[in-house]
Formats: sequence, C-alpha cells, structure tokens
Amino acid sequence: MKLSLFEKKSNSVESDINIVLVLNKDLKNIEDKALLENLSFEAKDEELAFLPELKKIYVGCEENSYEAIAIAIATAIKKFQTTKYKTACVELIEDEKESLRAIVEGAILGAYTFTHYKSEKKKEVEQELIVLANSNLKTLLSIFNDATIIAESVNKTRDLVNRVPEDFYPKVMAKEAKRIAKENNLDCKVHGEEYLLKHKMLSMHSVGRASRHESQLIHLSYKPDNAKQKIVLIGKGLTYDSGGLSLKPGDYMVTMKSDKSGGCAVLGMMNAIAKLNLPLEVHGIIGAVENMIGGDAYKPDDVLTAKNGKTIEVRNTDAEGRLVLADCLCYAQDKIKDIDYMFDYATLTGASVVGVGQYTTSIMGNNSKLKCKAVKSATASGEYATSLPFNRFLRKTLKSEIADVCNISNTRYGGAITAGIFLDHFVYEENKEKWLHFDIAGPAFVESAWGYNPHGASGAGIRMTLELLKNL
Ligand code: BES
Ligand code: ZN
Ligand code: ZN
Repeated sequence: MKLSLFEKKSNSVESDINIVLVLNKDLKNIEDKALLENLSFEAKDEELAFLPELKKIYVGCEENSYEAIAIAIATAIKKFQTTKYKTACVELIEDEKESLRAIVEGAILGAYTFTHYKSEKKKEVEQELIVLANSNLKTLLSIFNDATIIAESVNKTRDLVNRVPEDFYPKVMAKEAKRIAKENNLDCKVHGEEYLLKHKMLSMHSVGRASRHESQLIHLSYKPDNAKQKIVLIGKGLTYDSGGLSLKPGDYMVTMKSDKSGGCAVLGMMNAIAKLNLPLEVHGIIGAVENMIGGDAYKPDDVLTAKNGKTIEVRNTDAEGRLVLADCLCYAQDKIKDIDYMFDYATLTGASVVGVGQYTTSIMGNNSKLKCKAVKSATASGEYATSLPFNRFLRKTLKSEIADVCNISNTRYGGAITAGIFLDHFVYEENKEKWLHFDIAGPAFVESAWGYNPHGASGAGIRMTLELLKNL
C-alpha cells in the first residue's frame, strides 16, 4: 500500500473511492445517513458499509483514539484491497496530528499480507491511499514520514518472523542482518560457534549444539555523530525451538518458528532507528540458534558455564532462550562500556501468555520508574504491555544444589517472573537499574487476526521501544 499526504484545499486530488470514518456512532452530519440507516449501519468498531455505486466505504470508529482509528482504517483498507480500484482517499479527523499517526500506521499495518509461500501471488498493481489534511502540511509531514518508517519496519519484522525454519535458520538471520546493515550504513559483525567456544559462551553454544545449522551471534551498531546516549537492544533469535531433549509435545511445537521474534524485532528496531536518524548510539545483539535433539544435544542434568563464569544447572532444555540470552547479555556488557540502557526482547515463557493473555507484553526489571515509563510508552505507541514484579522469594526458587543457578524454578507458579530473575543473574551490578526485559511470547505471534494485526507475526516490541527511546 502506497501512502501520500495532500492538503484538502488543493482540489486537484482525485481518487477512485472515498473512505469515511464515522466517529462516535454519530451519523448526524453524514451525507448518506438515510441509506446507511436502511442498511442498519450503526458505525460500530470494525463495522463497514461499502456503497460501490457511490464509491464510498463507510467505517465505524467508536471513539477518537489511536487504537479505534487505526482499527477503522485497517478495516476499510482490507475492503479496498478486495477491489480493483487503484486509489482511495481519507480525511484526517481532529486532532490532525494524532489521527495522522493512527491512519498511517493503521493503514500500513492493516494492509500487510504474507504471501511468501503461496504459489499464486496476489495482484501486483500497488494501490494507493491518499490522506487529506486541513492543516498545514509542514507540521504534518514529519509525523507522516516517521509513522511510515515505523510501520514499514514492523512489517519487515513480520515478514522475517513468518518465515519457516527450513529456509530461515541462524545463517539466514545473519544474512538478513547484513542486508539491513548495508541498507542503513550500520556496522555488522557476525560470529559463529568457534567464537562462542573461544570466548567461553558455553551457555549459548550448548543450546545450538545438536542442530545442523551453526549458531550465530549477530552484532549491529548505529553510531551517529550526535549520539546523546548509548542503548543496547538484545534479541532471542531461536529460529526453531523443538524443546531439545525435554521435547515439546507436538501441538506445542507448532508455531515455534516464531521463537525468533525477539531477534527479528531488534532487526526491525535497528532499521527504524537508522531511518529515523535518532541521536543515539544503538547496538543490536541477537543470539540466533536452533534448539534441536540429537546425539550431540545438551541434556537435562548438564552444568553449563556462561561467559561471566556463572554455572547453570540445566533441568529443562526447553528453557533455552534464557541460556542464549544469558551469554548475549554478558557479551553486550563486556563489549560495550558505559551503557545507558539495556533492553532484551524474547518469546521467553508460556507463563507470560497464561498470565497476561496473548496480546500483552510483560515488562520486568529492577528499576520501577523505568518499567513504568516503558509501560506508558507501550500504551502511547498502540501496543499492550504491563509490568511484572520481581521478589526475593521467587528468586530463591532458582537455587541449585550443585551450581550457581538452575535454568528453571522449583515452583509451577510465576514462570514469566522467574525467567526474568534468571536473566538478572547475568546483568552486571553497574547495569542493574539500566536493564529491562520484555517477554513478548504472547503478542509476537497470534494465530488469528486482531485489529490491524494479521494472523501470525505482529512485530511486537518495535513501536513501544521507539516510543520509549523518545521518552528516555
Ligand atoms: N519459546 C518458549 C516459550 C513460548 C511458549 C513462547 C509459548 C511462545 C509461546 C520457551 O523456550 C519455552 O519453551 N519455555 C518454557 C519454559 C519452561 C520449560 C520453564 C515454557 O514456557 O513452557
Ligand atoms: Zn523452549
Ligand atoms: Zn524458546
């Protein structure tokens, strides 16, 4: 979907079809009120009336909020996509700055389809949405451009996450990272298993040992001259999680191609950060690994030593993401000095999904103010997130009799939090307050469409992080 922005008073704009957002279920001033009422159109959220002879799509928008507007425009765009019309137009609603962001992001995110594995590709003529503004374009143009960059980065991440493990394995992830680096002038270093062994990253190395695909540690960096702060973004990139020897039951294994969502989100963030020219030094670090079974597989009972020298008793090979992240956290802190903020993204626990539902990200860390800021930024960006609290008693449930820490807790409860506390063991003292952990296991991949999100990958984490970076 191509988008363009015009001033309404320039009468030169013509389009094949008009999209009209009907706010607050209020049809009073709507031109085709009588006809719409006869059609029983009530202008509820996601409700749509297509009037082909009048070349109009009416869509309900129950309140003047980012979410309602984004869902409304996505609903209309999906209808538009079923037609052969080339152009549609839509007018902004007050406040124009706010509605512009919602319309641009809602349209681009809502128009997304994933056809990579379809033998018959959809029509190739690109349709266009023309956005009409009453106010001066000067003030709106930068919002339009930023929203476009952000939404396109989310779609790029969706494309990566939706790829399947047969053709998307750690080396492919590294190739994608290099492609994004080249496009945006970023530095990109990729390390294989020899590096992991040499630098004693045995926690990450063990997880990938049974796979025929070599693990890859990916490090992207963006260093503008005017950088004000140093940010590190770390992603779990399990291109497949079979569970390892603690094998997942068949119906839990399906969708585990999405276990690379954290890493793919970091790729999307790096792409957006560079294109937005943010005045920050940002490092993106991804542990790309495949968790498989085989004669060389790591085992429940093994004790692994991470890069910081801490020993880990493995009691479940399906709690592998935290083992990969442990070494990635150490690598980041050893390599990068004077970090201002360090955030990690991972589809880490089923417990997060059980606890807060499949649409919400769980945010954890030691700094309450920072957690609060992250939750607020998420809400402002259009994503759902909540914070979960660490406590000393859950911390004790990770104790090991034979090593420094266990990779799973000894209680059935609070699994998202105990996973977060496990990661905290690998956050150095000087960075405790600078770190946040985002468990995106719920929203990263949902097997039915929701609002402007499609079936499959949603690109969770990107919009909330870009908003948070603005507010730090
Ligand atoms: N990748 C999974 C977590 C997950 C589950 C993500 C469902 C998305 C949807 C993770 O590696 C895992 O298997 N975690 C285990 C941890 C357990 C063994 C302590 C889990 O959540 O069951
Ligand atoms: Zn697992
Ligand atoms: Zn996993």
